[in-house]
Amino acid sequence: MIIRSIVNQDVDIFQFHSRCFAYVTIKDRLPTILVKTLDAFHRNWLSFIKRNQINDSNDWKDAGDESKKIIGEMAKLKYEMVTDKPLDKLIGNATDIDIWNDYFQEYIKKHREEPTWFTAPWLYVECFMYRKLSTFFETSKWFKKYDPFEEQKQHALQSSMSAVVILGNYLALITGNTQEEAIKFVDMFIQISLWGNKCDLSISAGNDNSQITSPLKDLVNLKEKILVNDSEKLLDFFTKLKADKQQVILDIVLDNAGFELFTDLCLIEVLYLTGFLDLKHSLVRFYVKKHPWFISDTMKHDFYSLLDYMKNYHESNIIKDLGGKWHNYLANKQWILIENDYWTLPHDFSAMKIVNPDLYNQIGQANLVIFKGDLNYRKLAGDLNWIIQTPFREALRGFLPTSLCSLRTIKANVACGFPIDFKQENYPKDWMVSGEFGMIHLVKKE
Ligand code: F6P
Ligand code: MG
Repeated sequence: MIIRSIVNQDVDIFQFHSRCFAYVTIKDRLPTILVKTLDAFHRNWLSFIKRNQINDSNDWKDAGDESKKIIGEMAKLKYEMVTDKPLDKLIGNATDIDIWNDYFQEYIKKHREEPTWFTAPWLYVECFMYRKLSTFFETSKWFKKYDPFEEQKQHALQSSMSAVVILGNYLALITGNTQEEAIKFVDMFIQISLWGNKCDLSISAGNDNSQITSPLKDLVNLKEKILVNDSEKLLDFFTKLKADKQQVILDIVLDNAGFELFTDLCLIEVLYLTGFLDLKHSLVRFYVKKHPWFISDTMKHDFYSLLDYMKNYHESNIIKDLGGKWHNYLANKQWILIENDYWTLPHDFSAMKIVNPDLYNQIGQANLVIFKGDLNYRKLAGDLNWIIQTPFREALRGFLPTSLCSLRTIKANVACGFPIDFKQENYPKDWMVSGEFGMIHLVKKE
């Protein structure tokens, strides 16, 4: 029986579920995030200025005046959001501003009205808030490089260090295994990377969401919470890749910095251990965000600050050594970090071929692309209201630059690829938005 996807192609998740999690997000969660970000900036602006070796008191006064202007812009953004005002054009000369403003104009042309916070699609308005917020800093004189979420990302990493040490020690323990013996750990580290995605500060509206329990102990009872599990297929895929003995390119579209990023890098390390990735004949490309995004998403500086933090973590030689090893992978270009505007646009991934064909073709060079997290999943599935048994390949709507894997904890009402006999009534009411359940999808490019 083929489930036809009754997709409300032109009804995005927000309009369809105006009382659902999307509504709560825009009405409550995003304003809370804005207020916390405003407070943090109010507290941190002077230490940021001093950290950048600006010591002239006249400059401090000038920067102080500018900080007040930025705080006013953040307060205005929050007011517009909670009173359902229209979105507007972005200001600035960054490379993506015109694309954002074209998207705004296209919306008006299609809907014959301006997008407002409660009537436009959830994906658009949530992405817009983060990009609009970042323009306040990037167009300023004194705060161009200020990351409004840096304090929260740093704190989340530091609060996760006991879990980092547990995982790092375990990784060191299994490093002595033969390639054959190590294979059984791949499935385990795929799950650890999946569950690392629970540590996201966006869903917690900035509240501490660090990994404080052992990531290993949790695994056993988390297994049944993986509701779509293609890990067997993924293992087969890696086994075939190893047999091909070709130069392998593995792409990872990263999600959250801190503990989740650490679990992603541990997974790569285990792929080296098993020979699924040959350290000398493979390249791993990490796609990072160009702008502060959904609070905890990984920017280039977050990647380096994890490795630097590890290299200087004197409580554990294992973590120190691992940080040094991973720094060397970057130095030797076995790992490269790639920034691209596309990941911080409002477009879902089915538009990439048109909007950024170079990126689509670049990913097409890889043997596999792994998408981490919920927002990436929403963009893979177009943030549309799918019947959850719709095959994932269908939900991709033509986006398949290469074989594709999604490791995602479920935090939004978008899902597909479920077994026909899946019974939602057997799960808690909030199973789609709690982050308590996960999915491992693999779609092979034939
Ligand atoms: O559901 C809350 C939310 O902010 C979503 O809007 C977004 O898709 C997700 O969290 C971000 O989670 P992740 O970091 O896994 O992409
Ligand atoms: Mg994220």
